[in-house]
Amino acid sequence: MKAVVIGGTGLIGSKLVTVLLEQVHDSVAASPNSGVNTLTGEGLPDVLEGASVVVDVSNSPSFEDTAVMEFFETSTRNLLEAEAAARVGHHVALSVVGAERLTESGYFRAKIAQEKLIKRGSIPYSLLHATQFFEFVKSIADAATDGDTARLAPVLIQPMAADDVAVAVAKVTVGAPLNDTVEIAGPQQFRLDDLIRQGLRALGDPREVVADAHARYFGAELGERTLLPGERAELGATQFEDWLALSTTGR
Ligand SMILES: NC(=O)c1ccc[n+]([C@@H]2O[C@H](COP(=O)([O-])OP(=O)(O)OC[C@H]3O[C@@H](n4cnc5c(N)ncnc54)[C@H](OP(=O)(O)O)[C@@H]3O)[C@@H](O)[C@H]2O)c1
Repeated sequence: MKAVVIGGTGLIGSKLVTVLLEQVHDSVAASPNSGVNTLTGEGLPDVLEGASVVVDVSNSPSFEDTAVMEFFETSTRNLLEAEAAARVGHHVALSVVGAERLTESGYFRAKIAQEKLIKRGSIPYSLLHATQFFEFVKSIADAATDGDTARLAPVLIQPMAADDVAVAVAKVTVGAPLNDTVEIAGPQQFRLDDLIRQGLRALGDPREVVADAHARYFGAELGERTLLPGERAELGATQFEDWLALSTTGR
């Protein structure tokens, strides 16, 4: 079985390639760094030759509204077209829990557009919706920072470790297409402001974190449960405190 991981050099992609290789599957990391560009189509026919499954864990270099929409629409169209030509039997993609509730945000509108193309396409698919990665704490803070202060809504969030995301994506990758969406999340719930405060403190980041019910999350206002998965989500095992302890002692 040959699996091609689009975005295989990224945070999730590099971990996913390692997990897939441990399971003795032929797994190839594809990204602009290895001569495969889904925006231009460069390198796609060659890398997809003989592939039975393609996993898309790429991300847009820019989160600006127009750029991110262009990235996910064009790259997904090119990828699905190349997969059809190569007779790939399964397209797996990673999106975000609650994307459909975050339409005030250009980033999440682009993720929804990506999902629509996959659902309407001809390739059998599996979609995973993951909650925010622990590794994303600093980026969330950066997007919410003005001066020395990060403003975050004190809403519920159930983040997870990128290692647990990779294991869950690998499991779906080696299975039959679901033609459906499954949710994955972490084992604990936090308040978003508390999570970011705790994360920044552990990283030695001096920014002040202020709770603000109307603070926007990548352009979207959040409700109490907007970021939470449903009851049937599969939960990763890694606790935030354990991950923080490992990541701040240089794992
Ligand atoms: N961050 C979160 O908390 C979160 C939560 C749930 C879901 N997600 C989703 O998880 C996915 C992966 O995120 P990540 O943080 O692992 O991404 P990342 O570390 O930013 O990696 C992005 C990857 O995309 C590749 N890429 C960029 N432009 C490309 C192009 N034109 N053609 C092919 N590949 C291209 C990059 O390749 P190069 O290295 O060659 O540039 C890199 O391998 C995203 O789709 C995101 O929406 C994220």
